[in-house]
Amino acid sequence: MNDAPIVLQAIKLLKRIEGAITHTLVNEIDLDVRKGEFLAITGPSGSGKSSLLYLLGLLDSPTSGEVVVCGLETSKLSETERADVRLTKCGFVFQFHFLLPEFTALENVLLPLRTNGKLSRSEMTERATHLLSTLGLASQLHKRPFQLSGGQRQRVSIARALANSPEILVADEPTGNLDAASTEQVFALLRDIADQGQTVVVVTHDSGLAARADRRINIVDGKIAETTFGGRRAATPQPAPAAPVEAAAADAPAAPPPLPPQPKAAE
Ligand SMILES: Nc1ncnc2c1ncn2[C@@H]1O[C@H](COP(=O)(O)OP(=O)(O)OP(=O)(O)O)[C@@H](O)[C@H]1O
Ligand SMILES: [Mg+2]
Repeated sequence: MNDAPIVLQAIKLLKRIEGAITHTLVNEIDLDVRKGEFLAITGPSGSGKSSLLYLLGLLDSPTSGEVVVCGLETSKLSETERADVRLTKCGFVFQFHFLLPEFTALENVLLPLRTNGKLSRSEMTERATHLLSTLGLASQLHKRPFQLSGGQRQRVSIARALANSPEILVADEPTGNLDAASTEQVFALLRDIADQGQTVVVVTHDSGLAARADRRINIVDGKIAETTFGGRRAATPQPAPAAPVEAAAADAPAAPPPLPPQPKAAE
């Protein structure tokens, strides 16, 4: 597809749950994902999509095989090192937003920045505010999740996932709970994130959305049954709109806003 570096690699990735009956959730999957690629994972319910995604995002460990993140063979890392790679190189978005209900939108985005501890307090606030603003949420900073719409909550969780500028964003049915307009907006955001150089791996049941990815892999019984290339991939960088959004249309599913630059001190 292109010669961008491979940032995520699965090598003979196997996840098996042993019990009275042995379940093979992920069955020796080989996969290379490049910088800036938008990869969609589809497949029937129970086929192993989430299991694969959790392995790729280091939320789970394989029975055998390897996940290589930015050149790091993660099976060789200590738990602490794995946690660090997870924090700094992988961002997660789930179907259910998993925002902390007692925290505001801003505080939820600050959490991973605080855990990473690379920025000063004012830089963290600036970064979180900027991220939320560019996702159209400047006027929602101090609201708690229950005071936000589903689409707004999901955008907060995308902002949280992007907080530490991860190389890889993984999302498990991020639009599964959203209406059509919010689905379009969230998907456009993910597309934009990939177009700006971060790698996006998204599980979706929506084949219309999956068709807009650079590549779609269809999982059946824990294996890649089919790979389709396509989607819109700009040959040149997308021109950034002149000004960040917000008031213009906080909830309009129009063109996605430009994403903020990488944080100064995260590396
Ligand atoms: N801890 C577990 N023990 C046994 N089986 C499991 C476990 N976790 C998942 N499974 C099984 O593994 C298979 C794959 O599950 P997974 O959640 O990855 O599917 P999925 O493709 O994401 O499905 P969905 O589209 O419904 O989210 C399913 O059959 C599931 O029941
Ligand atoms: Mg799933």
